[in-house]
Amino acid sequence: MREIDALLQRHSVRNYTDRKIGPEVLEKLGVMIDDCNRAGDLHLQLLKDAGKTFSRLLNRVMGLGSAPSVIICAGRESDTLEERIGYWGEKVVLRAQELGLNTCWAGTFSAKNAPVKPVEGERAVIAIAVGYGADQGRPHRSKTIEQVTSGRADRPAWFTRGAELALLAPTAINQQKFELRLNDDDTVTAVDKGGPFSKVDLGIVKYHFDLAREEAGLPKFWDGMK
Ligand SMILES: Cc1cc2nc3c(=O)[nH]c(=O)nc-3n(C[C@H](O)[C@H](O)[C@H](O)COP(=O)(O)O)c2cc1C
Repeated sequence: MREIDALLQRHSVRNYTDRKIGPEVLEKLGVMIDDCNRAGDLHLQLLKDAGKTFSRLLNRVMGLGSAPSVIICAGRESDTLEERIGYWGEKVVLRAQELGLNTCWAGTFSAKNAPVKPVEGERAVIAIAVGYGADQGRPHRSKTIEQVTSGRADRPAWFTRGAELALLAPTAINQQKFELRLNDDDTVTAVDKGGPFSKVDLGIVKYHFDLAREEAGLPKFWDGMK
């Protein structure tokens, strides 16, 4: 499956069957996580058993408590930590989708109850629930391309496509609080318009946008983000 097809198929899934993820699939997902940790200087940890990560009432009500596995997304504190987690974490999410799994980014996870020891100097920013969904989720309501873009009027096709893929990105409470500005020199500035977890959102949005760049045979903008 092309990564872009996984992107088109992905929706947040909050209810999971009790099917456990087998060793082969875990191994394949683990390889991608290792790659992303290296590329993004991060510490994403795949826990086969989510334990009590989603034991809070809110998560149980939302269904996330049924997720068998979880990825705890942590890293050393820095100004760009949250954005890098969004960018590389979304690559992992799409790999999970390719492997037949379902996911949900979850800001409401409990770092304290997760069955993993925090590493000194690191912060666990967010979790990603992983498992086999009881359903495949459904498309979210979306802003329009006009609402999230600005800048030069003569727009190359890759820019419009990038905005289209960005609008398919998961964002916290579906807030889509970002702006993609096309500059005169054909670069793009992605602006964070605030809100809970909006920096993680921005990283995810950048990853989706970069897949449009790749599709057009152009270099990605943000894969070297430090
Ligand atoms: C940073 C971030 C945090 C999120 N936190 C939660 C959460 O705590 N609980 C939850 O049920 N969904 C959470 N979500 C999922 C969003 O609600 C979901 O992505 C959004 O409604 C869009 O739907 P979609 O992912 O199906 O496209 C989060 C998503 C992101 C990107």
